[in-house]
Amino acid sequence: MKKILVTRRLLSENSERISNIFDVRLNNDDKLLSPKEILKYAKDCNGILTFPDTILSKDLILKLPESVKIISNYAVGFGNIDVDTAANKGIIVTNTPDVLTDATADISILLLLGASRRAYEGRKAAETENWKWSADYLIGKQMTGKKLGILGMGRIGRAVAKRARGFDMEIHYHNRKRLNPDLENGAIYHEEVNSLFQNSEFLSINCPGSKDTENLINEESIKNFPDGVVIANAARGEVIEDETMIKAMKNGKVFALGLDVYRGEPTINKKYLELNNLFLLPHLGSATSSTRIAMGNRAIDNLDSFLNKKIAPKDRVN
Ligand code: GLV
Repeated sequence: MKKILVTRRLLSENSERISNIFDVRLNNDDKLLSPKEILKYAKDCNGILTFPDTILSKDLILKLPESVKIISNYAVGFGNIDVDTAANKGIIVTNTPDVLTDATADISILLLLGASRRAYEGRKAAETENWKWSADYLIGKQMTGKKLGILGMGRIGRAVAKRARGFDMEIHYHNRKRLNPDLENGAIYHEEVNSLFQNSEFLSINCPGSKDTENLINEESIKNFPDGVVIANAARGEVIEDETMIKAMKNGKVFALGLDVYRGEPTINKKYLELNNLFLLPHLGSATSSTRIAMGNRAIDNLDSFLNKKIAPKDRVN
């Protein structure tokens, strides 16, 4: 049997399956492994099943034993892995697309609604039992009929668009490439990101994290949004320059922000916590049991295809 290191704990449905088809080193304590521990446990392994918060840097990949031929990431994003170094070393990297699209799109909508309808302030007030309904109490912004900008119109962005059409929103998007009309489904393409921002009363961030998308929302670009924009980020924290965002949330340029992801998570820029117009979740995009089981199965399928069946894994990214 081929040997696999699994760097974090899988759901039992997945750990049972992977144990049946591989000789596995599981991490049932679920402690985040240090680079040194990864190198120790990867000894003699043919593959590694890893997770988005485990950083596989250039240095670490270069030191991996020659026996390791595949890294299967349990996530759609793979910014935690230096995929070019892996490719140069002849290591295949795979991810888990498709299966988390719906769950993550749901969270984008939750962030947009939670932020625009002031869910955080609402919960705090309801807990005090000392609030009074009035015609102007905790007035939010309504999504119905508004312009929604989608930054990154891949699978998740398109699933957000599908949901937003149920709110009668006008969909605008920016993507590296314009989509075919059948995928576009009436959404309006903006080649320039600032043009998208100018047309976003609401913005949903659904692009991958990369050098190209880092700080796309910055001191200059934020000026393009209509005043009072609502922004939701279910992609990667690095897309937003936090100090700029905090300033814009204080001066009203940004009405409210919904975040599921953070730069350097789980830490958060503490200045955010002084703000009420913020709706936060702890990276729950794919957190439903059916989605997590499907992600595990997809990550295992990629290992199984490559190492056992000797066929190309479905989700190679490098
Ligand atoms: C989660 O953030 C993922 O990339 O799957």
